[in-house]
Amino acid sequence: VLATLPAGALSYGEPAGHPVLREALAGLLARRRGVVAGADRVVVGQGVGHGLAVVAAWARRAGHTAIAVEDPGSTPIWELFNAHGLRPVPVPVDAGGLDPDRVAALTGVRLVMVTPAHQFPTGTVLAPDRRRALVAWADRVDGLVLEDDYDGDFRYDRAPVGALQALAPERVVYLGSASKSLAPALRLGWLVAPYALVGELAAQRRYHDLMSPVLDQLAFAELIRSGGYDRHLRLSLRTYRDRRETVRAVLAATRPDWTLSGIAAGLHVVAEVGENAPALVARAAAAGIRVPSLATYATTPAPGVPDALVLGYAHLRPAELTPALQALATV
Ligand SMILES: Cc1ncc(COP(=O)(O)O)c(C=O)c1O
Repeated sequence: VLATLPAGALSYGEPAGHPVLREALAGLLARRRGVVAGADRVVVGQGVGHGLAVVAAWARRAGHTAIAVEDPGSTPIWELFNAHGLRPVPVPVDAGGLDPDRVAALTGVRLVMVTPAHQFPTGTVLAPDRRRALVAWADRVDGLVLEDDYDGDFRYDRAPVGALQALAPERVVYLGSASKSLAPALRLGWLVAPYALVGELAAQRRYHDLMSPVLDQLAFAELIRSGGYDRHLRLSLRTYRDRRETVRAVLAATRPDWTLSGIAAGLHVVAEVGENAPALVARAAAAGIRVPSLATYATTPAPGVPDALVLGYAHLRPAELTPALQALATV
């Protein structure tokens, strides 16, 4: 990529991202995730976290002070919102995901963040009627839905559920990144915004750090253009599916009393352990195994929701996973 670039390409570029990458992403996201994405809706950034910070900065200027978030949910993202002056308001998640009626019942909240394809961390899918109700609510209150599609490429039993954004492209900001497909360390992400907002979000992005590194953007665009990224995603899908199967098989053999919940997707699985998960987490830590409990991601444990472990497996080879799980099964 570097060898083909004129010197001028290394100067400051568009805050929304290099046009070549925005075009490539628009095609990729439309094709793989059903996102309604012209390049003119895309803003390139440094991951979902960065995209949310950009949206939060805009939201504060637009008068928002709070945002509804899934509970349990990604607690680091709650902290991020807090740090940007948006109060996260936890809304309980059940088997159908976030309940839009509970969001609608909040006063003074016109923003919500959801993980519709694979709720983090419980692993459910946002039910179809709730998807529709959520965007209808956003329309009614002149609000906005932030769709965190952090692991939407990875569904193992069927084609992934398409992006919520397609239901209402003017009411949803779709956010994704290369963190789960390549590596978090790349800090490469994107958002797809309503037309009414994309200019303002690009401006906020410029106030943050002017723009993303051009070489990274063009290298990633070339990976997409060449078909290499699709091949890599197909390979990763198989790899992660095998690792998930290893988790299922090892735990079925060693802990038949534990129940795995959530859809076959993503990079983690929830294991209901039928005992006080924090105590098990403490015993695991003493044995050198770091594993969080579901309660770590919740404000208050939901009544009737069994405590559980959240097992991230995608970064471990079966030869590493198997002994780790066997050890966990007996702590
Ligand atoms: C649910 C969820 N959303 C967003 C992120 C942040 O991702 P990124 O690396 O794209 O900022 C994470 C990170 O693990 C996550 O688990």
